[in-house]
Amino acid sequence: MMNFNYYTPTRVVFGRGTLDQTGELVKAQGAKKVLIHYGGGSAKRSGVLDRVKESLAAAGVGYAELGGVVPNPRLSLVREGVELCRREGVDFLLPVGGGSVIDSAKAIGYGVANGGDVWDFYDFKRTPAACLPVGAVLTIAAAGSEMSDSSVITNEDGWVKRGISSDLCRPRFAVMDPELTMTLPPYQTASGCVDILMHTMERYFNGQAEPMVLTDALAEGLMRTVIDASHVLVREPDNYAARAEVMWAGSLSHNGLTGCGTGGGDWSCHKLEHELGGLFDVAHGAGLAAVWGSWARYVLDADPARFARFAEKVLGVEPGADDTETALRGVAAMEGYYRSIGMPTSLRELGVEPTEAQIEELAEKCAVTVHGRMGAVKTLRKGDMAAIYRAAR
Ligand code: NZQ
Ligand code: ZN
Repeated sequence: MMNFNYYTPTRVVFGRGTLDQTGELVKAQGAKKVLIHYGGGSAKRSGVLDRVKESLAAAGVGYAELGGVVPNPRLSLVREGVELCRREGVDFLLPVGGGSVIDSAKAIGYGVANGGDVWDFYDFKRTPAACLPVGAVLTIAAAGSEMSDSSVITNEDGWVKRGISSDLCRPRFAVMDPELTMTLPPYQTASGCVDILMHTMERYFNGQAEPMVLTDALAEGLMRTVIDASHVLVREPDNYAARAEVMWAGSLSHNGLTGCGTGGGDWSCHKLEHELGGLFDVAHGAGLAAVWGSWARYVLDADPARFARFAEKVLGVEPGADDTETALRGVAAMEGYYRSIGMPTSLRELGVEPTEAQIEELAEKCAVTVHGRMGAVKTLRKGDMAAIYRAAR
């Protein structure tokens, strides 16, 4: 097991009806005025926003509000939010939504607490020294931002999507009521399940030879749980038990737990997908599903034993003549799983058909973001990135 530093300061308030505790949770943080931040309307339509406001009013906490966050959240709204918070004297951020809304709130928090241009942090020019406190009300199980240290923002100027990581932005609390996720369209439920799986898979495929018995067991248990629950949700979107398993898995998959002792993990698929999200505005989890098989086949020869273990322990694949054969069966089985929940396994199925020039642009941007190289299973450079995008077409 490699050395690690595990830090999860987020209070998790989980289960039916927990939404109504939001006001008290905010009050306990000493907040005087919060910014309720939300997306394109689902929280309004479902009544979640009204319940949050009632809960804040009951706790005697004032608020301002800013809606309109879109998936792959935009820098322009972040800047608007920073101005609004300054004008209104906001001292606490309350995103009500998914990863996009929470990430947008975190970015606003950096902007308000540090001054200057908030994009500087995402453009590697400065490191944030502070962040306004954030507490999240989660409405989609997916990105794990409710417990994570990261914030991913898209700059419309050049359509550059970048993420930064800092413990400063980890939410103080996360309200997780699985019932709130029952209004999700099936595609978003499935895309969320893929993202949850991928947060653990990125850590599980880590290129380490060191044994990690407990972390591997946690990771494999989490992945099997999400796969099983996602199948239930295809048939029964209102199944509370499955919604709850997926929601809890979403947080545990990205709060660092399944990476303890792994040395960090690979993360190539995330880097490849972020460029797709920036350029083509696709759903993050669906984009991951579209590139994963091509990435796996490209790097598999560097660690066939690990892919074979994944195939057997997570997907229940019958072993082949050697690790490579088992590994390849596992990749095919995973792609079969993606299709079974309505997720794409190629860029075409994702709905994008990049030209050769766009493939080069994606690879170039990805290479810049990772400072030239990425990957723990196999080191990938710009030419490798382009080759994987091409194979995923
Ligand atoms: O905008 P509204 O109307 O709310 O609709 C949203 C949105 O269209 C909808 N939705 C959310 N909750 C709903 C609902 N619809 C009906 N009922 C509900 N209860 O779902 C759509 C997707 O929302 P979004 O927040 O974009 O989803 P997700 O949580 O998947 O977040 C994706 C973003 O997070 C980033 C991704 O790159 C992407 O930008 N990530 C953030 C990470 C982090 N901060 O740790 C890690 C991830 O790897 C990821 O990169
Ligand atoms: Zn992700």
